[in-house]
Amino acid sequence: MPDWLITGCSELLTLRGPVPRRGRALENLGIVPDGALLIHNDRIAAVGSRRQVERLRGARGAEKLDLGGRVVLPGFVDSHTHLVFPASRVAEYEQRIRGATYQQISRDGGGIRSTANALRRASPRTLKDKALQYLREFAVHGTTTLEAKSGYGLDWKNEFKILKVLYDLHQDQPLDIVRTFLGAHVVPPEFRRKPGEWVNLLVQRWIPTVATSGLAKFCDAFCDRGAFTVAQTRKVLAAGRACGLVPRIHAEQTAHTGAARLAVELQAASADHLEKIDRRDITALADSNVVCTLLPGCSFHLGLAQYAPARELISAGAIVALATDFNPGTSPTVSMSMIFSLACAQMRMTPAEAISAGTINPAYSLRRHHRIGSLDVGKYADLAAFDVADYREIPYYFGVNLCSLTMKRGIVIHSSRKP
Ligand code: NIG
Ligand code: FE
Repeated sequence: MPDWLITGCSELLTLRGPVPRRGRALENLGIVPDGALLIHNDRIAAVGSRRQVERLRGARGAEKLDLGGRVVLPGFVDSHTHLVFPASRVAEYEQRIRGATYQQISRDGGGIRSTANALRRASPRTLKDKALQYLREFAVHGTTTLEAKSGYGLDWKNEFKILKVLYDLHQDQPLDIVRTFLGAHVVPPEFRRKPGEWVNLLVQRWIPTVATSGLAKFCDAFCDRGAFTVAQTRKVLAAGRACGLVPRIHAEQTAHTGAARLAVELQAASADHLEKIDRRDITALADSNVVCTLLPGCSFHLGLAQYAPARELISAGAIVALATDFNPGTSPTVSMSMIFSLACAQMRMTPAEAISAGTINPAYSLRRHHRIGSLDVGKYADLAAFDVADYREIPYYFGVNLCSLTMKRGIVIHSSRKP
């Protein structure tokens, strides 16, 4: 594995500084103009201006990579995805365009349950091949680490199948995949009349099994109207926490239920969605270490006018992150830069805030901030280069992928650089 001397970074966004970023600190990208990096094995050995880094002894024997004036930043950390699913739900997409709502489709047996039906029939090989295609696209769009949830199995055999596919994917391709057990996604059809029994099964059997087998680091639940109540979610996530699975919550997406406050009570790593939060939720979240993971791809794809109140969260001092929520029902995108475009235009986040929210803050929410999320000596050489001269052009040019190089742990895993 060669050492690399990377130069020609018109702006090197190091993201060095406070972790996690709150309030004004979200705008601090630690920019080095005309920056350079020295990479040794899978780690960053030096970061600074071209003049400083070129002068170092290790720079002499290193392979030279001159990016010719591109913006370089830490690889994106996408902290909320549902990576493993068998097929798109494009028919529901058209139904919604014609007037049906996500909730109606779900009540009629579509939505998450229709993906679960198809997933139960799909082989691990098929699921893995699909996910591999998506992972290649994530890499091409500059993402180097992602969180991925189970939740489309809705019985033990199939939840296990997803977790095992995720485990294999982590071994077999370059991106890091952090696994989350989402046994409480929706009530399985078999338990429709007795949801409490499914919750008890999760709490007494499956959560302890997931924890002892090391199949997941986090435990998630969809706490919403039509999914799980606050009381059920508390039971599931407290059981997870007791076995060492750190809680994350799908909170306040379609109705205001009290899920955000529950996230604070349980000291969850992350509360995700938050479209329906109120003033008191904002204060409680801001006073906590819960990362507020906003998923504007959902409102966009579902054609909804309401987005999460990012500005209020940031002013109150909350830790804000952005993620794709890649899934077939509400947000079929792998592109973090598209998520940034939405965050800027629809939630009035600045480009700098969006970039902190897609790198260092999600790394913190995944408890990986010591290794990834910023370009600092000793951290993994996970980075992306964009074909722009000013970082603000990353969200500005929406709907195009300007990522021309992705490096994961010192290995180039995507390159479309013109000579
Ligand atoms: O994050 N809200 C729950 N889960 C997903 C949607 C999953 C689906 O519709 O398939 C979400 O939006
Ligand atoms: Fe989700």
